[in-house]
Amino acid sequence: MEKLTAPSQKSITDKAQWHIAAVLSPGDRAIDATVGNGNDTFFLADNVGPEGRVIGLDIQELALHRATVVLGEAQLLHRVRLLQRSHHRLADWVPTDWVGRVRGIMFNLGYLPRGDKSIITRAETTIPALDSALELLAPGGRITIIAYPGHSGGDEEADAIREWVRGLSLLAFEVELILSDTPGDDAPELFVVTRLS
Ligand SMILES: C[S@@+](CC[C@H](N)C(=O)[O-])C[C@H]1O[C@@H](n2cnc3c(N)ncnc32)[C@H](O)[C@@H]1O
Repeated sequence: MEKLTAPSQKSITDKAQWHIAAVLSPGDRAIDATVGNGNDTFFLADNVGPEGRVIGLDIQELALHRATVVLGEAQLLHRVRLLQRSHHRLADWVPTDWVGRVRGIMFNLGYLPRGDKSIITRAETTIPALDSALELLAPGGRITIIAYPGHSGGDEEADAIREWVRGLSLLAFEVELILSDTPGDDAPELFVVTRLS
């Protein structure tokens, strides 16, 4: 796995968006696998343009409600389908013609900020979701994963993701690990997986 120095002083969530923006074009399809407060869903909807489409998943009604408000205020709601579903069966919730044609898929793991911190993403659903995301990804498409080893349960999940990326074929995928500007055992980690062909 290639380790890159962060390109700027941006936050790790900004860096994830920067890496996705680099591969998205107007008219593309994209997925936010953890909608949360809707920041990444908004970013994706904005970047795919009027002809593009975004699917966003979260298990919490509160998350989808907040995202609906944010997207509605920006008049971007019509570009997005929000689903209250777990991402571990991601491929089941997207149209069949999205398989192999999604350009950007974002995972920002952990708990919902300003929400119930006991509801967190977990390795047993995150890893199947990542496998499913690979099936959906277009050649040249990209998955970003932000893992938070600092919170309870996050450490296990980050370990599982490191193992998952180590198992990817480097003939088929390019993998980058971007470390936080303030590294430490608890610091968030950004994984960027790009499908080569
Ligand atoms: C860190 S937040 C996402 C932040 C979001 N990307 C944003 O920009 O505001 C993580 C979200 O993952 C959601 N989540 C937890 N388990 C999930 C699952 N199995 N499937 C989909 N979402 C899940 C949580 O409900 C929470 O809202």
